Amino acid sequence: MGLSKLSVNLAGLKLANPTMLASGILGYTAQTLQSVVDGGAGAVVTKSIGLKPRKGYANPTVVQTDCGLINAMGLPNPGISTYVNEIREAKSVLDVPLVVSIYGYSEGEYAMVAKKAVGAGADAVELNVSCPHVKETGSEIGQDPESLVKVIGKVKASIAEPVFVKLSPNVTSIADVADAAVKAGADAITAINTVRAIAIDSDTALPILGNRVGGLSGPATKPIAMRCIYDIYARVKVPIIGCGGVTNWRDAVEFMLAGASAVQIGTAIATEGPSVFRLVSTGIEEYLGRKGFRNVDEIVGLAHKT
Ligand code: DHB
Repeated sequence: MGLSKLSVNLAGLKLANPTMLASGILGYTAQTLQSVVDGGAGAVVTKSIGLKPRKGYANPTVVQTDCGLINAMGLPNPGISTYVNEIREAKSVLDVPLVVSIYGYSEGEYAMVAKKAVGAGADAVELNVSCPHVKETGSEIGQDPESLVKVIGKVKASIAEPVFVKLSPNVTSIADVADAAVKAGADAITAINTVRAIAIDSDTALPILGNRVGGLSGPATKPIAMRCIYDIYARVKVPIIGCGGVTNWRDAVEFMLAGASAVQIGTAIATEGPSVFRLVSTGIEEYLGRKGFRNVDEIVGLAHKT
């Protein structure tokens, strides 16, 4: 693996290729995670898990638009004490790094969940501090650098494994937030979470989602994610994991040129199937070959050259 053109070292995690499963899609069970690994993912991220179980919002929780999906699931999850069994099972069957996405209502909760997740075998945690619409759960943490710094500090003090911080695009300056996160100890930045959005039905004259407002993912978010990655790369030194609308190898290459060391794929699994990971990484490898690069590292941030 270490010899491949596609291998990356992501804040200490060794990936055979730079594609990762984004949080929220197929990330509940060891079996669904395995289907993504079979499709070629270099690492996987689980659905966000909290301290206590949550039922989530009433249906409908997902709506399809012309250019992507809007979802408001409401962070449904079984709670970490139950989910540790799934983490153990996933660790025993998967041969790629396992990242557990976590959320909390306070910095203490984040730290407790992180500790239990790594205790069960998580190779890293990704802090979901950016869910755009579950207000009472800390969705605002990522928009408030002061709370964000506290959460990251507490999690870093509780575990030795890498801490990824997934940021919201719904802020004035994502680079400022990334800078605060890195100063607080973030080992990598995942950019971006979904973009606040709404869909309204002209027949009923009402919002479609149970929660009314949700988060947009898919192709429409790609140029926004590109700009966020570009701005963050210009500001901080830790690796960036690009996320938002990646559907094919060219999207992934563009993310890397903007500054991403790895890319997450979520919504495209719904349109392309789990083999999208293999299609993307094969396409990246062919691009590297055509352009004469020896390793995928060499293209990270190239668009910043003057
Ligand atoms: C949910 C959480 C998110 O972080 C997001 O971007 C969209 C939806 C949720 O569980 O509702």
